[in-house]
Parts: sequence; C-alpha cells; structure tokens
Amino acid sequence: MKFFADTSDINDIKELENSGLLDGVTTNPSIIAKSGKQFLPLIEEICSIVHGPVSAEVASTDYETMIKEGKKLAKIADNVAVKVPLTPAGLKVCKELSDEGTMVNVTLCFSAGQAILAAKAGATFISPFVGRLDDLAQDGMQLISDICQIYANYPEWNTEVLVASVRHPVHIIESAKLGADVVTCPPSVIKQLFNHPLTDKGLAAFVDDWKKTGQSIL
Ligand code: G3P
Repeated sequence: MKFFADTSDINDIKELENSGLLDGVTTNPSIIAKSGKQFLPLIEEICSIVHGPVSAEVASTDYETMIKEGKKLAKIADNVAVKVPLTPAGLKVCKELSDEGTMVNVTLCFSAGQAILAAKAGATFISPFVGRLDDLAQDGMQLISDICQIYANYPEWNTEVLVASVRHPVHIIESAKLGADVVTCPPSVIKQLFNHPLTDKGLAAFVDDWKKTGQSIL
C-alpha cells in the first residue's frame, strides 16, 4: 500500500519524506487556496522533494481550458499527476493526457459507476472520497470494496485505487484489508498509525528494566 500526503505544507512533506513513509502527494484547489502560496512554484517545489507522484489539479471545468491547464501542469516535472474532475470533459482530458503518457488522477469519485468510467478513460489513479460519503451517513468503505472488486475483474485496466478524503486510521486499515493501492491522508492521520498506549507502556517498562541492569550496549 502506498501512502500519499494530502497536503501542500512543505514542512509536513519534508518530515514524512525523511521518515521513508512517503510515496507521493496529492493537492486540490482548496488545499492550494489554504496554503496562500502561488500554485505552480509550490507544485514545482513539492516535486523536487517527493520522488513519487504529485497530484496537481486543473482549475477549469471545460475541456478546452482543462487540456491546456493539464499540459502546462504536466510540464512542471516528470512526477506530476494531473488531477481532473470526474466529468465527461474531465475524462476526455484524462484519455488524451494518459494516451500521451501523462499520469492522471481522476478525482471527486463517489460511485462505482464513475470508477468504471475513469478506468476506461485510462486514469492512472481513481480518487473515491470516503470521508465525504461517511459525512452523509453513507458507507465510504463499501465504495472502495465495490471498486476493488470490479477492478479485479479487468486486469487490462491499470487504474490504481487511491482512497481519498481519509479521516482517521481505520480508513487506512480498512482500505488495506480491501487491497486498495494508495491512501492519501492528512499527515496527522498517517502519524496516528504509530499510536498505541501498550507500545508506550511496554517501551517505558523496557527502558526502566534496562536501567536497573546498570549495563550499556555501547
Ligand atoms: O484529495 C482529496 C481530499 O483532499 C479531500 O478530502 O477532507 O476535503 O474530503 P476532504
């Protein structure tokens, strides 16, 4: 399972990159707006830090403008994955860019039917938003289960399931159980995976007991 950081925060990205846990980054217009930074230079900087795919989303919704934006984003770095919305125009852009060898992340996926369309359009990644479905008392993980089941029937499709809108570690664990290829998470959620009180308690006991031996390994 690959871990992508769903952020444009350079410090968080560098920290995760240095931990060896980071396989890529995803951004979207809301994340970019929140950063207060200029989009293109920020994506270029992230691509210089992260060796894996960095998702940069088009801002328009019409085909003619999205294809121009997508081609410009793709030129920033070889590891840019152009992000497009799951609309007829977005999938037309997806097909054109993926045919040219550009990675494409199809976003705002909320149904298995949409995921089928994205795979047929040659998407590199499909981004089903589990948290936003859960927020509506729908079952986000059921969507991931359905997509993984469907995609397994068509090995000729090369679209990776990139679970997005992740709210907590259980989304990561359940996605792994289902065989999803990638989760993209706020860095804090990735860090939460480390946490268990029995680990902390056990380590404290090991340290205390070792101190009692009066020994040193070095
Ligand atoms: O990459 C998609 C993700 O940023 C959406 O997350 O929390 O806005 O639903 P959220």
